[in-house]
Amino acid sequence: MARAFYIKTFGCQMNERDSEIISQSLAQHNYIETMDMDSADLVILNTCSIRAKAEQKVMSLLGQLRRNKAKDPKMQICVAGCVAQQEGLALIERMPHVDLVIGTQHIYGIAKHLEGSQGEGKVVTELSTTYEIPKFLPNLGAADAEYSSSGNSVEFSRFVTIMQGCNNYCTYCVVPYTRGREVSRRFNDIIDEVKVLVDSGVKEITLLGQNVNSYGMTNVVTDDGSPCSFAKLLAAVSRIDGVQRLRFTTSNPKDLSDELMRCFKDLDNLCPQFHLPVQAGSNGVLKRMNRKYTIEKYHDLVNTLRSYRPDIILTTDIIVGFPGETEEEFNETMALLEKIRFDGSFSFKYSDRPGTASMHLADKVPEEEKTRRLTTFQNRQNEISLENNLNHVGKIFKVMVEEKDSDSYRCRADTNHVVHCTSKRELSPGDLVHAVINHAGKHSLKGLILEDEVV
Ligand code: SAH
Ligand code: SF4
Ligand code: F3S
Repeated sequence: MARAFYIKTFGCQMNERDSEIISQSLAQHNYIETMDMDSADLVILNTCSIRAKAEQKVMSLLGQLRRNKAKDPKMQICVAGCVAQQEGLALIERMPHVDLVIGTQHIYGIAKHLEGSQGEGKVVTELSTTYEIPKFLPNLGAADAEYSSSGNSVEFSRFVTIMQGCNNYCTYCVVPYTRGREVSRRFNDIIDEVKVLVDSGVKEITLLGQNVNSYGMTNVVTDDGSPCSFAKLLAAVSRIDGVQRLRFTTSNPKDLSDELMRCFKDLDNLCPQFHLPVQAGSNGVLKRMNRKYTIEKYHDLVNTLRSYRPDIILTTDIIVGFPGETEEEFNETMALLEKIRFDGSFSFKYSDRPGTASMHLADKVPEEEKTRRLTTFQNRQNEISLENNLNHVGKIFKVMVEEKDSDSYRCRADTNHVVHCTSKRELSPGDLVHAVINHAGKHSLKGLILEDEVV
């Protein structure tokens, strides 16, 4: 009889894609996905360790699952993702009711590792230095429902992983430890996956990696051994028939090439939206973070991007309260925000992570001060986001319908804005249409779908 599994995903888009891969692999091995954790025979937590809070969420859910297991000792609990990789055996010691801890490089073999893991506290977390991302093509027809658990509920928009790991060692970051050395996926495997997706009706592709700019730099990705930059890969994906919208994330500014920035001018289906994490506005802090670029360089990049694509929407990531961050240094982050006027940002309080270099830095910023800086930053960002969004009122945006809300459609613009649209005609998810923006909030827009026209 098929076993029912429930999967919960924490963390970034790469983890979301990994959860899809886990679901698809299990579907090929007599498992069926359920949305009800309490009745599942197998519960998988695909975890994130980027900040202490993310890890605490996992631990508290695992505590809860102890009771499920007490009621039904036959159920299996599996921890995957970055906490699994980071903690390994220590996780089983703390949580003996966990059956399998599976590291980030092993998810493709999850069905095999689950066999016989019941009650065993099995740990599979070796990180290989010669890892190759296995060829894996989604089986869309048979497994439509599997996607729903990942949070990426829009079936017309899909993530495609193009690399694993990271070699950058920003001093605050666990990713190089939880995801291993940087490995780029083979060019042909990526192209094949995108073709399968568009053939099954997908219209929007987002290419994923911790630092897509260094695609193809650490291993050979082509059959004939010729070099392939990320910009070349992007252009090749953009040319595949059926790819109507193309995005990527994430880019470290340190090796953002002119070739890549030019793609925003040259590739029609590349969306005018760029997430370019800066982290801090002070060169001193950037140096202590080991980010390997200066604020002057960051400004140059933004100016170049805006010259190639004046309507480009820019978002960023910010960490406040990095060890030793002075009031003056924080004010430089505020000044950067005023100067660039990001359309949006994800901002975080610095969080000490095990194994990272910054953990050992002196002058940790007190919690209350980090909170104050975060609030100051976020308040100003919200004002700027609203001001920028107000400038869009009256403009016509290309949007894709994601789902019907009660009296409107939730759509996503090519700028990545969420746009709540009213429409005189009936629309379906996946429709690409034009909307005139008639209202702006700080986090979303409202619009009216133009009649009689499909983009
Ligand atoms: N690879 C991406 C970042 C991935 S992590 C890049 O280099 O841009 C996503 C974001 O989490 C980071 O950009 C950073 O802002 C934040 N982050 C990472 N480690 C953190 C830590 N220890 N404390 C607080 N925020 C952190
Ligand atoms: Fe972490 Fe830096 Fe790598 Fe991004 S580039 S994943 S922040 S180490
Ligand atoms: Fe979290 Fe791992 Fe992604 S730490 S942000 S799930 S790479």
